[in-house]
Amino acid sequence: MKLKDLEFKKLIPSDRIEKKVASLADQINKDYENKTPVFLPVLNGSFMFASDLLKDITVLCRVSFVKISSYSGTASTGQLKTLIGHDESLFGLDIIIVEDIVDSGLTLQKIMEDLKGRGAKSVEAVALLRKQSAREKNIEVKYVGFELDNEFVLGYGLDYDGLGRNLRDIYKQVLPSSEK
Ligand code: IMP
Repeated sequence: MKLKDLEFKKLIPSDRIEKKVASLADQINKDYENKTPVFLPVLNGSFMFASDLLKDITVLCRVSFVKISSYSGTASTGQLKTLIGHDESLFGLDIIIVEDIVDSGLTLQKIMEDLKGRGAKSVEAVALLRKQSAREKNIEVKYVGFELDNEFVLGYGLDYDGLGRNLRDIYKQVLPSSEK
Protein backbone atom coordinates (compact mmCIF):
# COMPACT_ATOMS: atom_id res chain seq x y z
CA MET A 1 0.00 0.00 0.00
CA LYS A 2 1.38 3.39 -0.93
CA LEU A 3 0.61 6.44 1.17
CA LYS A 4 2.04 9.69 -0.17
CA ASP A 5 5.75 8.96 -0.72
CA LEU A 6 6.01 5.86 1.50
CA GLU A 7 5.28 2.18 0.98
CA PHE A 8 3.58 0.16 3.75
CA LYS A 9 2.70 -3.48 4.29
CA LYS A 10 0.31 -5.12 6.72
CA LEU A 11 1.90 -5.97 10.07
CA ILE A 12 -0.96 -6.76 12.47
CA PRO A 13 -4.38 -7.70 11.06
CA SER A 14 -7.53 -6.46 12.77
CA ASP A 15 -8.53 -9.87 14.18
CA ARG A 16 -5.24 -10.10 16.10
CA ILE A 17 -5.69 -6.54 17.36
CA GLU A 18 -9.21 -7.38 18.52
CA LYS A 19 -8.04 -10.42 20.52
CA LYS A 20 -5.16 -8.50 22.07
CA VAL A 21 -7.41 -5.59 23.07
CA ALA A 22 -9.82 -8.03 24.74
CA SER A 23 -6.99 -9.66 26.71
CA LEU A 24 -5.65 -6.27 27.85
CA ALA A 25 -9.16 -5.37 29.03
CA ASP A 26 -9.40 -8.70 30.91
CA GLN A 27 -6.20 -7.97 32.82
CA ILE A 28 -7.38 -4.47 33.70
CA ASN A 29 -10.81 -5.75 34.78
CA LYS A 30 -9.11 -8.17 37.18
CA ASP A 31 -6.60 -5.67 38.57
CA TYR A 32 -9.19 -2.92 39.12
CA GLU A 33 -12.02 -5.15 40.33
CA ASN A 34 -13.01 -3.07 43.34
CA LYS A 35 -11.83 0.27 42.04
CA THR A 36 -13.30 2.98 39.83
CA PRO A 37 -10.42 3.98 37.55
CA VAL A 38 -10.28 7.02 35.31
CA PHE A 39 -9.14 6.18 31.78
CA LEU A 40 -7.22 9.00 30.10
CA PRO A 41 -6.84 8.28 26.38
CA VAL A 42 -4.17 10.46 24.79
CA LEU A 43 -5.49 12.03 21.58
CA ASN A 44 -5.28 11.82 18.64
CA GLY A 45 -3.63 8.46 18.07
CA SER A 46 -5.37 6.42 20.78
CA PHE A 47 -8.96 7.17 19.79
CA MET A 48 -9.62 3.81 18.07
CA PHE A 49 -7.75 1.70 20.62
CA ALA A 50 -9.45 3.48 23.52
CA SER A 51 -12.88 3.04 22.02
CA ASP A 52 -12.41 -0.73 21.48
CA LEU A 53 -10.70 -1.25 24.85
CA LEU A 54 -13.38 0.57 26.79
CA LYS A 55 -16.14 -1.57 25.29
CA ASP A 56 -14.48 -4.57 26.96
CA ILE A 57 -14.01 -2.86 30.33
CA THR A 58 -16.56 -4.12 32.84
CA VAL A 59 -15.48 -2.30 36.02
CA LEU A 60 -17.12 0.99 36.88
CA CYS A 61 -14.96 3.69 35.31
CA ARG A 62 -14.68 7.23 34.04
CA VAL A 63 -13.18 8.39 30.75
CA SER A 64 -11.60 11.76 30.05
CA PHE A 65 -9.53 12.59 26.98
CA VAL A 66 -6.22 14.42 27.11
CA LYS A 67 -3.88 15.84 24.55
CA ILE A 68 -0.24 16.80 24.61
CA SER A 69 0.52 20.09 23.02
CA SER A 70 4.12 20.49 22.02
CA TYR A 71 5.51 23.81 21.03
CA SER A 72 8.95 25.24 20.54
CA GLY A 73 10.23 27.15 23.50
CA THR A 74 13.33 29.25 23.55
CA ALA A 75 16.53 27.84 22.16
CA SER A 76 17.73 27.01 25.66
CA THR A 77 14.66 25.10 26.81
CA GLY A 78 13.99 23.32 23.54
CA GLN A 79 10.65 21.66 23.05
CA LEU A 80 8.09 21.97 25.83
CA LYS A 81 5.14 19.66 26.24
CA THR A 82 2.06 20.33 28.29
CA LEU A 83 -0.90 18.19 29.15
CA ILE A 84 -4.23 19.70 28.25
CA GLY A 85 -7.78 18.51 28.62
CA HIS A 86 -8.24 17.28 32.16
CA ASP A 87 -8.71 20.07 34.64
CA GLU A 88 -10.63 18.37 37.43
CA SER A 89 -8.87 17.24 40.55
CA LEU A 90 -7.26 13.83 40.33
CA PHE A 91 -6.72 13.60 44.06
CA GLY A 92 -7.04 10.02 45.28
CA LEU A 93 -7.98 8.63 41.88
CA ASP A 94 -6.63 5.56 40.08
CA ILE A 95 -5.57 6.70 36.63
CA ILE A 96 -4.96 4.55 33.56
CA ILE A 97 -3.35 6.38 30.65
CA VAL A 98 -4.34 4.93 27.27
CA GLU A 99 -1.63 5.31 24.61
CA ASP A 100 -1.52 4.09 21.02
CA ILE A 101 2.25 3.64 20.91
CA VAL A 102 5.22 4.30 23.17
CA ASP A 103 8.26 5.21 21.13
CA SER A 104 10.84 7.35 22.94
CA GLY A 105 8.56 7.32 25.99
CA LEU A 106 8.85 11.10 26.43
CA THR A 107 5.12 11.67 26.04
CA LEU A 108 4.22 9.05 28.60
CA GLN A 109 6.88 10.20 31.08
CA LYS A 110 5.63 13.77 30.86
CA ILE A 111 2.01 12.75 31.43
CA MET A 112 2.87 10.47 34.35
CA GLU A 113 4.89 13.18 36.09
CA ASP A 114 2.12 15.68 35.59
CA LEU A 115 -0.58 13.38 37.00
CA LYS A 116 1.44 12.26 39.99
CA GLY A 117 2.06 15.94 40.75
CA ARG A 118 -1.70 16.45 40.84
CA GLY A 119 -2.18 13.93 43.64
CA ALA A 120 -3.43 10.88 41.76
CA LYS A 121 -3.50 7.78 43.98
CA SER A 122 -2.03 5.57 41.26
CA VAL A 123 -0.96 6.13 37.66
CA GLU A 124 -0.53 3.22 35.24
CA ALA A 125 -0.45 3.02 31.46
CA VAL A 126 -1.85 0.74 28.81
CA ALA A 127 -0.26 0.95 25.35
CA LEU A 128 -1.27 -1.08 22.33
CA LEU A 129 2.26 -0.89 20.91
CA ARG A 130 5.72 -0.38 22.36
CA LYS A 131 8.86 0.15 20.34
CA GLN A 132 12.31 -1.13 21.11
CA SER A 133 13.54 2.37 22.00
CA ALA A 134 11.12 2.51 24.96
CA ARG A 135 12.12 -0.97 26.14
CA GLU A 136 15.78 0.01 26.07
CA LYS A 137 15.04 3.09 28.19
CA ASN A 138 12.98 1.02 30.66
CA ILE A 139 9.90 3.16 30.22
CA GLU A 140 7.42 1.47 32.50
CA VAL A 141 4.15 0.48 30.86
CA LYS A 142 2.06 -1.94 32.90
CA TYR A 143 -0.09 -3.24 30.06
CA VAL A 144 1.45 -3.65 26.57
CA GLY A 145 -0.27 -5.15 23.55
CA PHE A 146 2.46 -5.75 20.97
CA GLU A 147 6.22 -5.22 21.12
CA LEU A 148 7.74 -3.73 17.94
CA ASP A 149 11.18 -3.05 16.56
CA ASN A 150 11.93 0.59 15.85
CA GLU A 151 9.78 0.58 12.74
CA PHE A 152 7.33 3.23 11.60
CA VAL A 153 3.74 2.02 11.73
CA LEU A 154 0.34 3.40 10.86
CA GLY A 155 -3.34 2.51 10.97
CA TYR A 156 -5.74 1.81 13.86
CA GLY A 157 -5.49 5.43 15.00
CA LEU A 158 -1.85 5.99 14.06
CA ASP A 159 -1.06 8.37 11.21
CA TYR A 160 1.54 9.30 8.68
CA ASP A 161 1.30 13.03 8.06
CA GLY A 162 -2.32 12.97 9.23
CA LEU A 163 -3.29 10.06 6.98
CA GLY A 164 -4.16 6.45 7.71
CA ARG A 165 -5.79 6.79 11.13
CA ASN A 166 -8.99 5.19 9.88
CA LEU A 167 -7.41 1.89 8.78
CA ARG A 168 -8.57 -1.17 10.77
CA ASP A 169 -5.23 -3.03 10.47
CA ILE A 170 -1.73 -1.88 11.47
CA TYR A 171 0.84 -1.41 8.70
CA LYS A 172 4.59 -0.95 8.81
CA GLN A 173 6.76 1.05 6.50
CA VAL A 174 8.66 -0.91 3.87
CA LEU A 175 12.13 0.59 3.70
CA PRO A 176 13.82 0.91 0.33
CA SER A 177 16.56 -1.75 0.23
CA SER A 178 19.29 0.92 0.48
CA GLU A 179 17.99 2.00 3.96
CA LYS A 180 17.52 -1.47 5.45
P1 IMP B 1 7.04 9.17 22.19
O1 IMP B 1 6.84 10.39 23.04
O2 IMP B 1 8.33 9.21 21.42
O3 IMP B 1 6.89 7.89 22.98
O4 IMP B 1 5.97 9.20 21.03
C1 IMP B 1 4.65 8.95 21.25
C2 IMP B 1 3.76 9.48 20.13
O5 IMP B 1 4.43 9.63 18.87
C3 IMP B 1 2.66 8.46 19.91
O6 IMP B 1 1.58 8.69 20.79
C4 IMP B 1 2.33 8.65 18.44
O7 IMP B 1 1.36 9.64 18.30
C5 IMP B 1 3.64 9.11 17.82
N1 IMP B 1 4.33 7.99 17.17
C6 IMP B 1 5.43 7.34 17.62
N2 IMP B 1 5.80 6.34 16.80
C7 IMP B 1 4.91 6.34 15.77
C8 IMP B 1 4.74 5.52 14.59
O8 IMP B 1 5.49 4.57 14.29
N3 IMP B 1 3.68 5.85 13.79
C9 IMP B 1 2.83 6.87 14.05
N4 IMP B 1 2.94 7.66 15.15
C10 IMP B 1 3.97 7.39 16.01
